[in-house]
Amino acid sequence: MKGLILSGGAGKRLRPITHTSAKQLVPIANKPILFYGIEEMATAGITDIGIVVAPTTGDEIKQAVGDGSKFGVRVTWIPQHAPLGLAHCVLVARDFLADDDFVMYLGDNMLEAGLSDFVERFAAARAESGSGHPTRRPSAQILLAQVSDPGSFGVAEIGSDGQVTQLVEKPEKPPSDLALVGVYLFDRTIHEAVRNIEPSARGELEITDAIDWLITQGYRVDHEVLSGWWIDTGKKDPLLECNRLVLDTFGRSIDGDVDDTSTVEGQVVLEAGAKVVNSTVRGPAIIGSGTTVEHSDIGPYVSIAVDCRISGSEIDNSVVLRRSTVSDIARLTDSLVGRDTVLSRTVRADEPDAGALRGPDDTGPRAIRVMVGDHCRVEIE
Ligand code: TTP
Repeated sequence: MKGLILSGGAGKRLRPITHTSAKQLVPIANKPILFYGIEEMATAGITDIGIVVAPTTGDEIKQAVGDGSKFGVRVTWIPQHAPLGLAHCVLVARDFLADDDFVMYLGDNMLEAGLSDFVERFAAARAESGSGHPTRRPSAQILLAQVSDPGSFGVAEIGSDGQVTQLVEKPEKPPSDLALVGVYLFDRTIHEAVRNIEPSARGELEITDAIDWLITQGYRVDHEVLSGWWIDTGKKDPLLECNRLVLDTFGRSIDGDVDDTSTVEGQVVLEAGAKVVNSTVRGPAIIGSGTTVEHSDIGPYVSIAVDCRISGSEIDNSVVLRRSTVSDIARLTDSLVGRDTVLSRTVRADEPDAGALRGPDDTGPRAIRVMVGDHCRVEIE
């Protein structure tokens, strides 16, 4: 079985970060989202992986992933000239996929369950039903999850026999609350399906329509309902939620330096070369190597990448990308800060305690929430 990871796309919902960088490279607990997907494939025994990339971000992704050997996989790069839809990705990957079965995975999605069981069940169902009539072997296997807002997803209708009878993309009147999760298993019939569908109203070839075509043509499409979490990290708040869920799985490992005036509590990963000076770090949190935290209060649920400088600030529930500075910000919360960015507070001469953390009698600092792109300079008064 092969793997196909979709890592192109426009990433409009994660602007301004995606103006300068690929959303799949935004770190969750200091590791690019995309790497979790590649690792999951490797764990499921899938080592021949095609990655679809866009012209704007392809080089950056290639540089980060390399040839795949660090993950124990072999990567084939598949350019997609424009974000024309998930089913369009299958079209452009035709040569790489040949006639093999494959698992398709959205490069900005993460799921708790991993891929191994899902992949094994498909292989077993195909082996069981032998190579008889095409309608007997499953041609696809999809994963569904219960959501509160099905109208924003591809939605499945389940018939009285428990089989999927129809799939509709972003329906006005959803037939169920079961949304299509970004992991799919296909055999070669999907190539015929993607050639037989038309672009949707938003101009994309929808994978939902391609799978619906399989159902309409009488091919067997199996499904299972996901237990455990699943997150599409393509927007800030789900991305922060994913960061929290992953940090929750971490233990404590202190390889950096903590001075005598600092406290580091709970599940904290402090990488070698990181420094904590006169600060409190409350886990779950991760602080990358080369980063200095001084006179600050960090956590819970904070990921700070490598080579950052955090001083005189409180940060919780946030992700800070590499080489950025946060200084004298009374409270930064629910935020995503890009690379090489400076977020600071203007220190006024008539404000004697400017830059200091709140005192014991203070009612508490006003929190700021930001999503700031790469190479920005933001001064807050
Ligand atoms: P989406 O998040 O559905 O689309 P997008 O990346 O264009 O984002 P936005 O809606 O915010 O503009 O894409 C899911 C994944 O599939 C993501 O990793 C990008 C990838 N993708 C492609 O590789 N090619 C495509 O044509 C599309 C639409 C998505």
